[in-house]
Amino acid sequence: MKSIITGSGIGVPRNVVRNDALTRIMDTTDEWIRSRSGIEERRYADPGQGSAELGSIAAEAALKDARRKKEDIEAVIFATMTPNFFFPGNGPVIQAKMGFPETIPTFDIRQQCSGFLYGLDLADSLIRSGKYGRLLLIGADVHTPFMPWQMGWASTIGGERRELTPEEYAFNTSIRDRTVLFGDGAGAVVIESSENGERGFLAAKLFTDGSNIEALYVPGVGFRMRPYVDHEQLNRADPIPVMSGREVFKQAVSKMPDSVRAVCTAAGVSLSDIDLLLIHQANLRIVEGVGKALGFAADKVPHNIERYGNTTAGTLPILYHECVRDGRIKPGMLICFTALGSGLHWGAALYRT
Ligand code: ACO
Repeated sequence: MKSIITGSGIGVPRNVVRNDALTRIMDTTDEWIRSRSGIEERRYADPGQGSAELGSIAAEAALKDARRKKEDIEAVIFATMTPNFFFPGNGPVIQAKMGFPETIPTFDIRQQCSGFLYGLDLADSLIRSGKYGRLLLIGADVHTPFMPWQMGWASTIGGERRELTPEEYAFNTSIRDRTVLFGDGAGAVVIESSENGERGFLAAKLFTDGSNIEALYVPGVGFRMRPYVDHEQLNRADPIPVMSGREVFKQAVSKMPDSVRAVCTAAGVSLSDIDLLLIHQANLRIVEGVGKALGFAADKVPHNIERYGNTTAGTLPILYHECVRDGRIKPGMLICFTALGSGLHWGAALYRT
């Protein structure tokens, strides 16, 4: 018995924010953002629209695509590092919002940019254990709440447009290395058990190394603090993620290729058997670097980061869905998913369509 993806869907906000909109509120340029990251635009959620809202749009679309009703789903896995509430997680939010019966469990997982990849392996394991036959897996993140919204950011989605004070402009510029990279978005898949041994997940290799958490983390708002959030943390901007961009870049272009090699060995296939490599969309240069390290031609390494930026747990399911929709993913193909993100967590999974 294997587990197979029977449907997919996405939920992306309506607000398209082009690089030019960011040049109005910080010292950056379209040229810098494009040449360093490949990003041309990203989408920002409306105020009040969280990862559960985008996730539920994606989930409804995935259920429709799989021709399944809510009653058919036996468990939900929600991967996000930006839940609607500190607790509970998005599981019960989505259960109530979408009207799933209370008889099913909802699992909340994080793993940041590797969240969807971890969710795939968890879903596959739960199905192959025989306990559940049909699951919904959602990967969604909203990064706009990290942005200092009071400092002129509303103008990016057509809200209040005013002259920023020099202090506001300087503050936005001080975090420009991170803010220009991220967008909001969600994707979802329905995963089911299948007796057709040809199709399905072949293997996954997942890794964790927490020896350098500070390479990419949120320094404030944590339960080692007393209290877990206070005015001093807010004044220091501790709730805004800190990133050592070069360090993360270096890790990404070596660890993702290593994990792809490792999962191929585990499954007894060679790199050349892979038809399409779906890489977490953090930076076009990382995507190209991983493809090159593995000797893959550009047409085997699809990307959409130019349109969405990094949507963290959303990137892989959005990319998967778009590749299915435009015919780049065809029946019988061998697909490899790979990701690396804060933790660090990283890994790869092989899937025969
Ligand atoms: N606009 C203009 N200039 C900028 C910007 C900006 N938005 N951001 C930084 N700069 C400046 C810096 O101030 C610095 O200037 P200085 O040299 O005068 O000090 C300079 O640009 C740095 O340039 P580079 O060193 O060439 O930048 P680099 O090539 O390292 O690219 C980047 C930076 C894009 C952040 C890259 O390192 C990267 O993508 N890293 C990985 C990010 C990532 O993958 N994150 C993980 C996923 S997130 C998750 O898991 C939640």
